[in-house]
Amino acid sequence: MANFRRFRPDDLNNLSKCNLDPFTETYDLSFYLQYYAKWPSLFQVAEDQDGNIIGYIMGKLESSPDVYQFSEHYLPWHAHITAVTVAPEARRLGIGKLLTQQLEVAADANDAWFVDLFVRKSNHKAIAFYKSMGYSVFRVVRDYYGDHSSDRTLSSEDAYDMRKPMKRDVKRKHIRADGEKYEVDPCDVW
Ligand SMILES: CC(C)(COP(=O)(O)OP(=O)(O)OC[C@H]1O[C@@H](n2cnc3c(N)ncnc32)[C@H](O)[C@@H]1OP(=O)(O)O)[C@@H](O)C(=O)NCCC(=O)NCCS
Repeated sequence: MANFRRFRPDDLNNLSKCNLDPFTETYDLSFYLQYYAKWPSLFQVAEDQDGNIIGYIMGKLESSPDVYQFSEHYLPWHAHITAVTVAPEARRLGIGKLLTQQLEVAADANDAWFVDLFVRKSNHKAIAFYKSMGYSVFRVVRDYYGDHSSDRTLSSEDAYDMRKPMKRDVKRKHIRADGEKYEVDPCDVW
């Protein structure tokens, strides 16, 4: 049985059940606190009956800077999943799905066009997870993790940029059926 609530700064002492996973990035403290301060409703944790953090999701709301508004890569107002992770012993219980659904509710409440995220092409379990929730590949970002990853135990790799349209996107104009064919470089991602 998990309890879901907003992230609190003291949770930073209690993330290791989740963050020991190699697919889960560990960031600087200031990075977590920036999400806590700016997007508190998009930073949710799941805790077990002993108060251990067994899952969390970090997200944000944004659009590309105005200077790029005429670029083909411009991203309109959307929610972004920066991290979602569930401790190995608590997987396949629906916790990741509930955390993601909570973020999608916040995305709709904030009139976002879509929710997006980046995932390693080799992270087949996470890709299956996202697909089960209605996400699809929008584009491939070549060598995305070569420059961005803080985890040097994983090798350089392409990312799938995956998306799920939100209620605002009635005509489904922000998703693609054949997104695996669209490759971009990390410099095209803002
Ligand atoms: C991806 C992750 C967050 C999924 O969390 P979870 O709580 O285990 O997922 P859920 O139990 O909510 O699964 C929902 C559905 O997703 C799919 N799914 C989840 N894990 C899966 C797996 N290992 N293989 C295939 N499908 C999977 C299933 O359809 C599942 O429904 P079902 O259990 O009824 O079949 C978890 O595996 C994880 O923390 N992985 C390591 C960190 C990571 O890769 N994060 C994503 C980085 S982008």
